[in-house]
Amino acid sequence: MDSGISFKGSDPKIASKDPTTQSNYFDVYTTHISLDWHVDFDHKIISGSATHKLTVASPGVKDAIFDTLDLDVKEVVLSGQTVKYSLGKKHEVMGSALTIPLPPSLVANSKLELTVSYATTSGCTALQWLTKEQTQGKTFPYLFSQCQPIYARSLLPIQETLTSTQTYSAQVTSVLPALLSAIRVSPPSDGPPHDGKVIGKELVTYKYNQPVAIASYLIAIAAGDLRYRAFAKPPGKTWSSGIWTEPSLMDAAFWEFSEDTTRFLAAEENLVGDYRFGTYDLLVLPPSFPYGGMENACLSFLNPTLLAGDRSLVDVVVHELTHSWFGNGVTHAHASHFWLNEGWTTYMERVLQQILHGPAQRSFSYVIGNKALRDDLERYVERPKYQRLLIDFEPGEDPDEAYSSVPYQKGANLLLHLERTIGGLDVFLPYIRDYVETFSGKSITTQQWKDHLFAYFQSHGGEEKIKALDSIDWDAWFHGEGVELPVQEDLDLTLARQAYALADRWDAARAIDVSKTSFIATDLDDFNSNQRIVFLERLQGLPPLPESHIAHLGNIYKVADTSNAEIRFRFYQLALRDPSLVPQHVAEEAARWVVGDDGSGVIKGRAKFCRPVFRSIARVDRDLAVRYFEKHKAEFHPIARKLIEKVGLQLSAMSPIS
Ligand code: BES
Ligand code: ZN
Repeated sequence: MDSGISFKGSDPKIASKDPTTQSNYFDVYTTHISLDWHVDFDHKIISGSATHKLTVASPGVKDAIFDTLDLDVKEVVLSGQTVKYSLGKKHEVMGSALTIPLPPSLVANSKLELTVSYATTSGCTALQWLTKEQTQGKTFPYLFSQCQPIYARSLLPIQETLTSTQTYSAQVTSVLPALLSAIRVSPPSDGPPHDGKVIGKELVTYKYNQPVAIASYLIAIAAGDLRYRAFAKPPGKTWSSGIWTEPSLMDAAFWEFSEDTTRFLAAEENLVGDYRFGTYDLLVLPPSFPYGGMENACLSFLNPTLLAGDRSLVDVVVHELTHSWFGNGVTHAHASHFWLNEGWTTYMERVLQQILHGPAQRSFSYVIGNKALRDDLERYVERPKYQRLLIDFEPGEDPDEAYSSVPYQKGANLLLHLERTIGGLDVFLPYIRDYVETFSGKSITTQQWKDHLFAYFQSHGGEEKIKALDSIDWDAWFHGEGVELPVQEDLDLTLARQAYALADRWDAARAIDVSKTSFIATDLDDFNSNQRIVFLERLQGLPPLPESHIAHLGNIYKVADTSNAEIRFRFYQLALRDPSLVPQHVAEEAARWVVGDDGSGVIKGRAKFCRPVFRSIARVDRDLAVRYFEKHKAEFHPIARKLIEKVGLQLSAMSPIS
């Protein structure tokens, strides 16, 4: 089915609504970017140039306007001629518009080529430069980027809107192996590291090409003492897949992900269609990486806390690879429709789990997700706008302010509700395939998604299906506020029950002297790590247990010192819950867990962990939180730092802790 819609530079309605860009991509838009970069570890900058191939959409367009943020622009050359440009006043969120005058009387479809020579600056929010101490190997520095949602503009001048996609190519000189979110042209991934040159000393040119048009938030770079190991290729597949990381992490990282990555990628292809990007590699980063995972094109970035040693956190890889279709394939039109990326990906990740591990597993993920959803909905009671699935952003509003589990979990619940209302997975899967086929390579709004849904079922089932769709309370799903889901689907609680039962036993034992309780280490023996999480979360929903009980629980179940970050995080959330009951040493342990206490830098830089832990510590002992944060602030990723500061930890900040 052909939607007949092309948004590239042609839909001013969407363009005028994109709340985060100052660029005029609807008048003139980039189709390809060539990057010529030098990674300068000494000065912590990337310098070089970005060449844009532009196509004119509006005849007579006078300027090309790009987004930039704290870039040091040196020269602009248009069709071989140096031109005058202007950099607008900096907007705190959107940065400075770079306006470049174009020749007069341009007709539609004219092509232009424009090169901006520039360097990044210390204000670059997309990059984190790590000292060698902050890496695993402690021998070489490290660099990585995070462009989503709107930080690409601090890495290169770009029309940073999701509606306009572009191909890109890059040549990057670096004294350390460099990776980009594209297909490697040279030197070969499986050749000698750093092309046989001396790592850390000699320059090598890394060449990459991204032949699939992608949105700007998927541009990425990493450079460090990196090695590659290929995963075994499933029979009949044309794509390649492998893992990158520092040498000392390679064995652990390869073991954790080698079986599931290609298995899930192949399973996903069977469900929704071919993988379009040729290469699917993973990169395990240092611990200050602020997310669990990031679906950069051809190369998902992963947090090292996923190396649990038992493959229990591979769902994050499944999530990131699923974005290859939902997000990197079908992209949301702008920040308001973010749920189309994350809600769909979360829903599909769980469909895959059901197919590979059975329905109980899928339901269990909803149980865990719904708890996170509830917490975030409660956190946003004062800002109900962010409780909505569809958020009406003001121009210049920071999309990171709204980042939460709402688009993920409310979105996934809506899709589950839809699947069941329309007749189950067998009916829904062919529709999903059609959805991906129809919109892959395009950026769409929620309305376009919904129009296609109705059109599909009109021609696959007719009246009866449309009646089912009409029975859905769309308004409540899209615009509803409050802490409840419009419809709570029945979930299979098989895996949750055991965890609930143990939590209930602790609840019942609250008044008993802890030394007289019958809890033993083996209570948790049959629990997988998700059940451990659900056990701790269930307790969090009950009145606080006495301090002695929490200490005992942490001890006998080893959840107070487990290396599984998801579990340890839940333990701290439980232990730090009631400020009046928390002994000082627990708050201090939690702080040390986040920042590390051996001088090796932040160890839990993932925002999902460090922000709430700092929030909880600050409630117990604000000075302690401030002390630890101030000391280690520079080691946090700029995004995580910003989020923690919002908790109210700046020494100068007068704002109360929320
Ligand atoms: N694309 C997101 C990460 C992201 C979203 C970064 C918005 C910046 C702005 C990624 O796919 C993601 O969802 N990561 C999750 C993984 C989890 C849901 C399995 C994370 O990091 O927690
Ligand atoms: Zn995601």
